Order: sequence, then structure tokens, then C-alpha cells
Amino acid sequence: MTQTSWFQNKHVVLGVTGGIACYKACELARELGRRGAIVQVVMTEAATAFVSALTFQALTGREVKVSMLDPKAEAGMGHIELARWADLILVAPCTANTMALLAQGQAPDLLSTLWAAAACEKAIAPAMNQQMWKHPETQANLERLEGKVQIIGPDSGIQACGDVGSGRMSEALDIANTLEATLNRGPLAGRRVVITAGPTHEPVDPVRYLGNRSSGKMGFALAEVANRLGATVTLITGPVHLETPAGVNRIDVETAGDMHTAVHSALDQVDLFIGAAAVCDMRPASVSKQKLKKSKDDLSQITLTENIDIIHSVATCPDRPGLVIGFAAETESVLEHARQKLIAKSLDAIIANCVAGGEIFGQDVTEAILVFSGSEQKLVPGTKSEVSQEIFATLSPLLAKRI
Ligand code: C5P
Repeated sequence: MTQTSWFQNKHVVLGVTGGIACYKACELARELGRRGAIVQVVMTEAATAFVSALTFQALTGREVKVSMLDPKAEAGMGHIELARWADLILVAPCTANTMALLAQGQAPDLLSTLWAAAACEKAIAPAMNQQMWKHPETQANLERLEGKVQIIGPDSGIQACGDVGSGRMSEALDIANTLEATLNRGPLAGRRVVITAGPTHEPVDPVRYLGNRSSGKMGFALAEVANRLGATVTLITGPVHLETPAGVNRIDVETAGDMHTAVHSALDQVDLFIGAAAVCDMRPASVSKQKLKKSKDDLSQITLTENIDIIHSVATCPDRPGLVIGFAAETESVLEHARQKLIAKSLDAIIANCVAGGEIFGQDVTEAILVFSGSEQKLVPGTKSEVSQEIFATLSPLLAKRI
């Protein structure tokens, strides 16, 4: 089963208005399509001077609409049908001129007419010169739109005209991710989730470390699914070779000590904490400043010291998240050891994996049992994404009860 994006099969009208940021709208059209949206581009006349309609047509596979009084377009899907068809109208880039039209209910062209006629979700990504953005009338229009439609950006920085300031259109990926997170009304909508993932590396000397075989795949799958289900997700990960799931706030750390600090900095009104990281239980008591030499240094002299148990510190701290869920990777007596850890670490549940023979580390599939105090649920074996879905399906009703 693949994870569904909010955009999957959604009808999106991408309104493109006349500014240099039009080139970013091409990437945006592709990104929305990649997420499964059916994208209908509507351009203003001015926009066609920056990027040709043919470009968008090639990217979306649909004929671009520009003019309202186009008999061909009206014979097919007229502006009212298009307004009804849309699940979302996203105007990106949105110029100062179009912002004024949308804010004031004026409808001199197809895009502004559609906007006025549609009752669907609406969003704009403003893009203009920084002076135009600061202009009191633009700011007044912004105020008119705020609270009614989603406003994404603008970003600050060097502008195409050479000015520096606020007015750059947000990047395509940021726009898609922001919309994904806000439009997704999944069972974890409005929830804050913190997940740890991957191994930790505990330095021995400048080039060596103690580590383990964790790939981070389980924690990343959990983060991706939680985001898809509407949660705001912070993923705190040790060193891994994985791409950040869309819409997830990723914090990279190396050692258990760094992970502990990062986790506690993220514990602000968290609903759910999942410790999927394979944290090193120990670290060298001191880190050699120079690379150890096999001939000179007696390696048996590396003494180890215990690392703090991060999840236990989370489960017992004043900012304790609503639910604290751990993992137990065991090679024998899986359930028994998992139950002991559930109690010792003060967890609400623990996800027990049998890792005898190392079968689960680094794999895309997993088998696990969700162990609560007094009950357990065998999860259907599957990809780490599928298992994550079942985990959240079980946990989300518990969150609703507790909060
Ligand atoms: O004790 P054990 O390492 O088997 O416990 C596994 C669980 O505890 C996992 O959820 C892991 O993320 C968490 N853990 C931790 N800090 C440690 C060791 C384990 O948070 N130092």
C-alpha cells in the first residue's frame, strides 16, 4: 500500500500570474502532479509573456486556460464548471495586481472570476518587488485575504530586480509541503509528533566511532506516515542515508548526547513521542584527540561509559508527551523483554521486533508486536510504511482520549 498525499486525485487549479517567479510555477505544477493532483493551469495574459502556455501544457497534460471569452474553453469546461471542479485554487506566483483583484472581489479575467466563483480551498504564494510588497495598499489587501485563504510566503532575499527584501515567491517544494500539512485533515491533524530514528555514532577518536546496524528506515517511515496523516512531525535522526520525508522537520544529530539535547528542545506540547532510534547504550569514556595507533595504543584500554536513556528521560520529564512509545529490538524472549522495558522505561506502549539474525535491520519490511501494559497487538507484517499506518491507526484514538 502506498501512502496517499492530500493531493492524490485532487483537482487543483494552478493560477499563474505575470511575474518573473513564473518559472518556479513550472516546478510547482510538476510537484503537484507528482503528488497525484490533476492540475489545471490558468494563466493571466501577463503570465504568458514569461512562460509559454505550452510549457505548462506539457507539464500537466492539460490544455492551459487563459481567456475567459474563449468560445472553445466555454464550450468545454466553462469558468463556472471549472470553479466547481476545483478542490483547490492556488495562485502562484500571485502578483500585487492579482492580489488586489482577489482581495477586492474584482473579476476582470478568467483567474479572478474563477476565484470569485469558487467555494473550494484557496491559497496564494505572493511574488513581487519588495517595495510593492511593503506598499500600504498591498498590505491592506493582504489583511483582507488573511484568515480566509492560505498565504504562503513570500520569502526574503535577493530579488530578480536586484533589490533585497521580502517578496520572493516561496520554493515549489515548500509551497506543496505547506499545503500538504494544512489541508490534510487526517486523524493526526493538529497533533505534534516527535520521532527519533537511526543509529547514534559515539566517537572513539577523530575517525572511528561505535555504532550499530540501524538504517533509520522504520523511524523515517513513521515520520512520513505521521505527516501524511496530518501531524506536525519533528524527526531527530542519527547518521543515515535517507531522504527527508516531504513536510517533515528533520534534525540531524550524531551522538546519543546530541540526540538527548535535540529531543528535549523539541518537547513543547508534544502529543506523541516515538523512540525508533537505536541509541548506543554506551560511549567511550574519553575521545582520543589523535587517531589511535594499533601498534602504540592498547585498544583494550578504551573504557566505556553508559549513555543516558533518552526515552526514559522523555517519559519521566515534566513536559511528558501524551503518549511515549518505544521500540524493543530483541533476539530472544521478545515479548518478555519488551514487557520489562515497557515498565522500566515508563512507556505507554512498546513495539517489539525480533532481530535474531539481523533480518529487520536495513530492510523495507518488518514484523512487530505492539505491546501495551496488559495487552498486545500483533501487527500485520508488511513494509515499514504499512506497519507504521497500523501503528498510527491504533494510537490515534488513544491520543484523542487522553487530550
Ligand atoms: O534498552 P533498549 O535500547 O533496548 O531500548 C530501546 C528503546 O529505548 C528504543 O525506543 C530506543 O529508542 C530507546 N532508547 C533511548 N535511549 C537509549 C537507549 C534506548 O531512548 N540510550
